[in-house]
Amino acid sequence: MTHTYRRTLVTTALPYANGPVHLGHLAGVYLPADIYVRYKRLCGDDIIHIGGSDEHGVPITITADREGISPQDVVDRYHKMNAEAFAKCGISFDYYGRTSSAVHHETAKEFFAEIERKGIFVRKTEKQFFDATAGRFLSDRYITGTCPVCNSPGANGDQCEQCGTHLSPTELIDPKSKLSDATPELRETLHWYFPLGRYQKLLEDYVERHSGEWRSNVVNYSKTWLNQGLAERAITRDLSWGISLPLDSVEAQGKVLYVWFDAVLGYISFTKEWAERQGDPLLWKRYWQDPETRIINFIGKDNVVFHTLMFPAILMAWNDERSEGRYELADNVPASEFMNFEGRKFSKSRNYAVYLGEFLERFPADTLRYSIAMNYPENKDSDFSWVDFQNRTNGELADTLGNFIKRSVDFTNARFDAEVPCDLSFDEWDNLGIDWLESFCRLEAAYEGFHFRDAVSQTMDIARFANRYLTESEPWKVIKVDREAAGRAMAVSLNLCHSLALLLYPVLPETSNRIWRMLGFEGTIDDLVEPGKVVWRKALEPGLKKGHKLLGTSEILFTKIEQKDIEPELKKIEALLAEARRCEASEKQTTTTFKPEITIEDFQKVDLRVARVIGCEPVKKAAKLLKLKLQVGSEERQVLSGIAQHYKPEEMVGKQVVLVANLAERTMRGEVSQGMILAVEGEEGQLFILEPQGKSINGKPVE
Ligand code: MF3
Ligand code: ZN
Repeated sequence: MTHTYRRTLVTTALPYANGPVHLGHLAGVYLPADIYVRYKRLCGDDIIHIGGSDEHGVPITITADREGISPQDVVDRYHKMNAEAFAKCGISFDYYGRTSSAVHHETAKEFFAEIERKGIFVRKTEKQFFDATAGRFLSDRYITGTCPVCNSPGANGDQCEQCGTHLSPTELIDPKSKLSDATPELRETLHWYFPLGRYQKLLEDYVERHSGEWRSNVVNYSKTWLNQGLAERAITRDLSWGISLPLDSVEAQGKVLYVWFDAVLGYISFTKEWAERQGDPLLWKRYWQDPETRIINFIGKDNVVFHTLMFPAILMAWNDERSEGRYELADNVPASEFMNFEGRKFSKSRNYAVYLGEFLERFPADTLRYSIAMNYPENKDSDFSWVDFQNRTNGELADTLGNFIKRSVDFTNARFDAEVPCDLSFDEWDNLGIDWLESFCRLEAAYEGFHFRDAVSQTMDIARFANRYLTESEPWKVIKVDREAAGRAMAVSLNLCHSLALLLYPVLPETSNRIWRMLGFEGTIDDLVEPGKVVWRKALEPGLKKGHKLLGTSEILFTKIEQKDIEPELKKIEALLAEARRCEASEKQTTTTFKPEITIEDFQKVDLRVARVIGCEPVKKAAKLLKLKLQVGSEERQVLSGIAQHYKPEEMVGKQVVLVANLAERTMRGEVSQGMILAVEGEEGQLFILEPQGKSINGKPVE
């Protein structure tokens, strides 16, 4: 990178104020961002970290409905809870906003109005499910039904959890409203669409321009979308919770902005609110509208395309035809992979998670920050386990770092009157066995490249070196024969404490401040940082001179975690894992239960026919579907069937199958399906198609 920036704006994905943040969120987004921001502050950079709560969206109204409270109550509760948990964890936001704020509503409306004014949106009338009992249009998540692909009940309007297929609500068999259990009806409704395709070329250039610098997962996700061709995306919803459209027309009533359209703009709104609080209301423009600002969006991998395509496209639409007040696009979008927990995915719905706030009631923030940083899911999913947490806390933090600091300080307090015994020459410092300049270059490169695990483990290597140095110098023995040599060893050790306090600050801010205090400094390292002042590089040199007074007392930096401290956690995990396994097993339940009784007349309504497969091909963008052409007596039929993972197209051709011939026609993936073929699922999820034997039975009814 040759470009030097004057300032940096860091944003972190806005967590839904719909539940407590868990360790997975911390690991992927907030901790890496905080480590980066703290590092840059130490370097004297002008940098701000903007985050906040995403307070709109359907999950919030679902929670409110379920608990019988208002959406506002839901977001009030979780905004407060998450802001507090982050603060307790030392995540040093410059501003933590909420998308329900007036400034945010105005900002989002302003964007909508501008894009509407330019005539960029496309309006489309479509049919959408409406719950007449509840008097509401139903968004995807409010509809449940049977999956057309795997036939399991309880699929959501947007996705079947069983087979993972992405669905649209009209594809569900026997759809029901989650609000009232009523069968919803299709009604016409008008929506605003954002034509992403209009910016296809600009977005391709944008991604291409950064493809050498961005992480490969970010480039790959973005390119996959670009290669498929960007479609129009509906950016309005029929909902009451959210930001209403800034239009007076009748069609705009009862509609709100799609949550992703407004959420990404939260970054801008919150920067405005931050600027207001700084007493300089226009200051936000310097962070968003000046090419000399470097913008970095920290996110999880599930948010990539919203940040590399959708958000930029919104800004491009704003910038269209404008020479002033143009927004800059993000320079980097470091997206993490996921951190698992004891080998399994965190899952809010299964309550398989460790929530940040609860964790911090039991263990100090810095021990968590350290373990999580060492397990940062940079390029692949990583894992957090209690045993790893215990080992790192006890071995690396307590036995190595804590032990070194305490021995250095205690011995100086006891034998050198709490004073640095002598000055160190640069030669002495340089000949210790650490190549300081090289170490610094490597550390700086690690931070700048967002390789936080490397940065933290390299820092810990220095702590390990220091601990070994002190042990091997044996000042407690040497002092009996050579007080001056022992004093020199202590001066070295104390200066290593000084350097470590600064070097560890990005990951262990509280610990660094405690070391700082023990070393006799007034105030904290936080007090030292200010734009233009390079504190970081002070760690390169011996910073403590002869006669520098230490505080005179010491404290234990890390308490070891005993087996009994994590025993209840391990028990809990075991219970959760057993529960998860039970769930999975019961999902595969094999006890024979039958559907409710029907009459022969009921059964005779079903027209089952023998058919022959005369053609078969895969369906684009539907990994599970095959498109079958069937000969049924004198007729030909097209049927989509979710068997692609069990049968190859060429295997299917020629097979004789049983067709449900009088099912209503349905459209999936833009293809019609005229019926379904019968199959049975095996023990391990295999699928067996029913193949009737016999000649000259094509087209005959199965009775
Ligand atoms: N609330 C979203 C989530 O948790 C993230 C929103 S990021 C933003 O996945 F940029 F849109 F705010
Ligand atoms: Zn399914």
